[in-house]
Order: sequence, then C-alpha cells, then structure tokens
Amino acid sequence: MDLHIINGTIVNAESTFEADILCRNGKISRIGKDLVSDHAKVQTIDASGCLVFPGGIDPHVHMHLKTGSGYSADDFLTGSTAALYGGTTTIVDFVTPEKNQTLQEATQLRMKEADNCLCDHSLHVSPVVWRTCMPEEISRMVSETGLRTFKVYMAYKDSIGLDDTVILQVMKAVAKAGGVVLLHCETGDEIDQNRKKLIFENKTSPLFHPVSRPGDMEAEAVSKAIEMAGQTDCTIYIVHVSSKKSLEHIKKARARGLKIYAETCPQYLLLDDSLYDGPFEEVCKYVMSPPLRKKEDREALWEALRSGVIQTIGTDHCPFTLEQKKTGLHDFTLIPNGAGGVEHRMALLYTYGVLTGKITLNEFVALISANAAKIMGFYPRKGMIAEGADADIVVWNRNRDSRISAQTHHSAGDQNIYEGFKTTGSPEMVIKDGQIVVLSGVLNRIPGRFLKTNAF
Ligand code: URP
Ligand code: ZN
Repeated sequence: MDLHIINGTIVNAESTFEADILCRNGKISRIGKDLVSDHAKVQTIDASGCLVFPGGIDPHVHMHLKTGSGYSADDFLTGSTAALYGGTTTIVDFVTPEKNQTLQEATQLRMKEADNCLCDHSLHVSPVVWRTCMPEEISRMVSETGLRTFKVYMAYKDSIGLDDTVILQVMKAVAKAGGVVLLHCETGDEIDQNRKKLIFENKTSPLFHPVSRPGDMEAEAVSKAIEMAGQTDCTIYIVHVSSKKSLEHIKKARARGLKIYAETCPQYLLLDDSLYDGPFEEVCKYVMSPPLRKKEDREALWEALRSGVIQTIGTDHCPFTLEQKKTGLHDFTLIPNGAGGVEHRMALLYTYGVLTGKITLNEFVALISANAAKIMGFYPRKGMIAEGADADIVVWNRNRDSRISAQTHHSAGDQNIYEGFKTTGSPEMVIKDGQIVVLSGVLNRIPGRFLKTNAF
C-alpha cells in the first residue's frame, strides 16, 4: 500500500516547503504537488496545518544497560516504544564488551538484545581494554560489521574508562579505519578522588554528586580529547557536553579546522544543579553523569545550538526506578547514573527552542535528525524528507499542549526528570519505513531494523 501525505509543510534542515509525499515500499517515492499514485491501495493522510519532519534520530541511548543495581528500567522494547511516541524513529545504543570479549562477539550479543527494538537502530562500539589485535577488530567492525562509531570513556576509570595512552591508540586505529571516536569527557582519576574524599567526609547525599564532577573537569577532558584528535587526525564527537568551558574548547578546535562534533542533551539545556537539593526520593532521579550544571552553562549551550558549535541533541536515555536509585541511599556514589528522556526530546526542543525563538525550525530538524544522520553514517537514507530516503516521517501537530509526567510517559521508568514540564507540539502520526507506527496515541508494533552505517 502507498501512503499519500497531503497538505503538510515539509521541514528539512535546509528548507521548508509545501508539498505532498508519496511513500512506497518503505521509501519516499515522490515529493511534489498534485501527486497521483498508481497503486491499487493508497492511504491518504491529510496533514493540513501540520509540520512534516524527518523521523527523529536519537544518537545516544542506553537501553537494557547492565549496572551494579540491575538493568536500566527500559529494555529495547519499552525504550523504543517511548521513542516512537515522541517522534524518534531511529536510536543508536552502545556495545560495552566484557574485557575478555572481542568487539565482534560483544556486538553480536548486543544485536540480539536489540531484537525487540521497534525503532530502526544501530550501535556505537566501546573498546574497554587495549589488545594488540584491537586495530584489526576496529577495522573489521567498520568494513565487515558496518559500524563506524566507537565510544571511549575518560570517566569510570574503575570499570570501562580508558587511560589517555589507550585512547590515543584507539583514535589512531579508528582514524585509519575511517570511523569516528565518541568521547565521554570527564577526568576520571580526579573525579574518583573527589568521590572518595566526599564519602570519607560523610558527604553522602545526591547534593554532592555535582560537587564531585565539576564542569572544569569535563572541560579539561574535552581539551585533552581535542589535543589527541589533533595528534591522530581522528574525527571525534563529544557526547553530552554540559559545561560552558567545554564549549569554548570545542569552538576553538572547530575554528582550527579539527574534525570535531558535539552533542548536548535536553537535561543540560533545561535543568540545573539546584535540583539536587532536597529529599533523596525526589532528587535521586537527577543523578546522571555529567551532572546538571548552572544557569550560565545552560545559556551557553543554547547559544552553542544557535551558532552551530553543537550539532546534535541526544538524550543519554538511561532511566532507573526509584528502588534501583535507592542502592545509593546512604552513598551517592552507588546511585546508578542516568535518567530517561527519549520520548520528550523533540517536544522539549520544539517548545523551549523553536517556540521561544532560540532556534529556527530548520535548525531544529538539523539538531534532532539531519546532523546525527550525517555524522553517524545514515545520510542520505535518513535525516531528511527526500525522494529515495527511508519513509521515516513525523506529522507534527504544532498546537497540541501536553504536560510531561511519569504517570503518562511510555518508558518503564517510574520517575521523570521533566515531571510537570509543559510542552506545545507533538506527533499526530509517526511513520517508520513507510508504515504508520503511532497514530492518535496508538502504537502499531512493527519491528525496527538494524542499520549499518556508511564509511566516513
Ligand atoms: O549518567 C549517565 N549518563 N548514565 C548513562 C551511562 C553513561 O554514563 O553514559
Ligand atoms: Zn551515555
């Protein structure tokens, strides 16, 4: 069956125009005025008054993440359901191998875990140790498995974090293979010392979480990452940038012509560290890394979106239940880190970015879809409404008011860091690979597909 979307206003990263769309066999087959389908069956969708966006791409989610407090609250099924309700049709999660596993072995297992994902999906792969065969594993990952993004952690030195010497080796190997290195930038050793000292001083509440990992430690790690990228000629992507100082380093590096991209998340644009002050049950949901920052950081992040210093909005979606967060009731360092948000990314950015005039509609589409598609290697298949692209389409009702709540969200998490936030604008209909997956609040469960990436 063909889908025929009429009367909508199409918004891409580069242009906005009135046109109709025909979808056939999962692809956008034609765009234009007065289109006629020659298919025996056509479903016509009247998008009058609506905006029509390419499906959202969230480049940073953690579904079914194994931690000391059990798996994160959302598996791939519930997490992708939440994503689709919010207009995100593609998610990119992570492979975090055991130290004795090859990247290939761990990736095969992770792909199985993602089997029930309803979004199209791909994976970033994390080297967590260095072996002499790692360059070979990385090269095969790009050329055979079809994954080209590799994530390294400068934090979490007691588990998956890497020393700078190893990160340099990874960057060399990834640059040679034609990939991109994603970095979680926080100086792990200093943070570990801070955490130990605070607990020793009996400063155990979530209030001390942001104290233990200040913005300067993120910025210092960003600066080191940039230096290493320069030495290795490696393309890098800094995940969840949250501090004003980090942005200054990134801006300068981009001006020097280094191949560097940056992501931030809605929580760093909309929330701040005053939220850590309160009873454990209310504030533990904000424990994530990096932590929420100050008002001046938020303002700098908005400016960085507008000026193009930041290219993408991910969510770092990784919710835990209150019960799981209580693992750290008497020691904030034991609270599982992370919060949900995959469902709200587009509505929040639309409401607090587009409707306040901070960013344009085209910048919105670049930030929630097109730029991630380009950097992660899904472009031109995804990230724009164009003939030949996958028919991942969001028909956006620009007037519908909503209020975010854990009572109504689709994540399996029982808390929401945006509880009470009002939004205007939400998907009227979500189409993925040419099939309607959400219509008037009802989900149509169609399996997502695993996405290989283009070489860089
Ligand atoms: O606090 C966070 N960000 N949790 C998710 C796991 C990670 O660090 O990326
Ligand atoms: Zn993350």
